[in-house]
Amino acid sequence: MKEITLAPLPYADDALAPVISAKTVSFHYGKHHAGYVKTLNGLIAGIETYEGRSLESIICSSHDLNDTAIYNNAAQIWNHDFYWRSLAPAGKGGEPSAELLAAINASFGSLDACKTALADAAVKRFGSGWAWLLKKGGKLVVESTPNADTPFGKPGVTPLLVIDVWEHAYYLDWQNARAAYVKAVVDGHLNWSFASSRFA
Ligand code: FE2
Repeated sequence: MKEITLAPLPYADDALAPVISAKTVSFHYGKHHAGYVKTLNGLIAGIETYEGRSLESIICSSHDLNDTAIYNNAAQIWNHDFYWRSLAPAGKGGEPSAELLAAINASFGSLDACKTALADAAVKRFGSGWAWLLKKGGKLVVESTPNADTPFGKPGVTPLLVIDVWEHAYYLDWQNARAAYVKAVVDGHLNWSFASSRFA
């Protein structure tokens, strides 16, 4: 049977330090993200609707069928894979493309205002969840989702960047200082090259 696999990290586990330490990555990627993969494979084993399907197909089907445990684990795998690719080592995240920057300016007024909106959504997300920069219809928006919820598969929505604000993302390095973690990520570790390629 074809199982869902854990995508490799796009960089070394210490590449985001000190903002996100190798120790945090070892737990976040090596235990949490890997755990969702293992759990999902167990949940879908022998179920024709899901077994052998792509992760994207599993997310959409489990959402429509209200298979909450399968949806939660599948969405968390997608969100985490997207999170690792939304981040980059310091100085390696590039800049928004001219096209993306024009859309940012049209929707938020400036890149700084866009970053502030994203950080604000991340800080204000109550409990566990995610803060997203999305292309939605013709414009860019910032939204947050609770727990495992993902914008993946929503009609007309293209995720561009995400920040994980589950405590497992920052507690080892920042303890309760979510706002400081978010600011450090937004200021120094967003992968604008990735966002630009998604936008295109
Ligand atoms: Fe996470």
